[in-house]
Amino acid sequence: MISLNYFTAEKETDISASKAHFENIKTKFLNDKNYSFFNITNDNKLLNECKQVYEKFKSKKVFVQIGIGGSHLGPEMLFQTFSANSNRRFIFINNIDSEEIFNQLKNLTPDDCLFYVVSKSGTTAETLAALTIVIKWGKFNSNELKNHIVFCTDPVVGDLRKFSKDYEISTLDVPPEVGGRFSILTPVGILPAIFCGANVEEIFEGAQLLKKEILEDKTENNLLLKAGHFIFDQYTKNKNETVIMPYSSKMKYFSFWFTQLWAESLGKKRNLKDEKVYSGLTPIPAYGATDQHSQIQLFMEGPLNKVMIFIDVAKRKNDYDLSNDFTYESLKKFKGLTLNELLKAEFQGTLKAFSEAKRPYLHLTIDECNEQFIGQLILFFECLTAFVGQLMQVNPFDQPGVEAGKRYAWEWIAEKK
Ligand code: PA5
Repeated sequence: MISLNYFTAEKETDISASKAHFENIKTKFLNDKNYSFFNITNDNKLLNECKQVYEKFKSKKVFVQIGIGGSHLGPEMLFQTFSANSNRRFIFINNIDSEEIFNQLKNLTPDDCLFYVVSKSGTTAETLAALTIVIKWGKFNSNELKNHIVFCTDPVVGDLRKFSKDYEISTLDVPPEVGGRFSILTPVGILPAIFCGANVEEIFEGAQLLKKEILEDKTENNLLLKAGHFIFDQYTKNKNETVIMPYSSKMKYFSFWFTQLWAESLGKKRNLKDEKVYSGLTPIPAYGATDQHSQIQLFMEGPLNKVMIFIDVAKRKNDYDLSNDFTYESLKKFKGLTLNELLKAEFQGTLKAFSEAKRPYLHLTIDECNEQFIGQLILFFECLTAFVGQLMQVNPFDQPGVEAGKRYAWEWIAEKK
């Protein structure tokens, strides 16, 4: 199970108010449709549907995922974490930059590719634009589309759903009540995870374990209660930026996935009473040890407005002995040291320096960066986002700011015509 420690130099505030909210959100996790992300891993129905699609298209050498926002970040995170042993090539078309798309497609052979087009709404301009590009690029005629393309969208509404029926395209469902940024454990993320060789059953098992832990631990040390209370307490003390910093290259993209989840869910102009609050916690993605030589100077000595979330990985599959016969002072220090020990030293050094500088942090530890623990972390951060939203009294599931931009872009196009 994930373990959690934290540090703050300030006096901690009473946890009772957070406890009441926590009881409330646990009920919502189990009964409120808006919180359906919590229950996705209860059965394997969606997973089995993905496996059927995999069987049909497993000969494809290249997996091209077309999608943006929640339809891209989770899948790419899973790919970056679990694809080390995959022989398949993966491409993510997640932007409408013509130069990038040209480069992504230029050396591909259309017949080798499976295009996985993901849009919950089925109407996102960027995604539909990329769909039209690949259809023309591949010179696929109407009858051939079903041999090259799979959709993932709302089960009923949206143009992608209509398209799938007209052209008999295999189509996976995004459950309507699960929002884009909470959809990683639906077919949005499951299908690419299967294609890259991840053990999705174990990801689900990790998520289920985490759920059990937060539902059953009645103490004040409950992982979610403790973390949510800490973050919210710091927020009331003007700590309105959250740095996420796993000490793992495999988890670099975990930080990007978290960034969208945190930013879109908590950045809200209005609270639940429709009052203007301009709430939010600005997420900053980082990873260690690399960012110790980049952003950490700012985190340690810059504005006093940040909470760090460090994620430490206890065991790694590989290691290197750094002992050597060179006589240079800095190389001699490596005697009897392994690379994993050096990383641990850097991590512990950073924690100490943050404590000394009186900078607050959460410290999560996972045993290994494997499917089980990533499953736990995914559900933990989804629940944490929902819980902090509850403590802030905002709706973590809408995104009026995103919708406004989409709408105005279409208006602009209409005016240009
Ligand atoms: O979290 C969200 O809801 C958004 O970021 C969406 O994922 C993003 O706008 C893409 O939407 P769609 O999947 O409908 O194309």
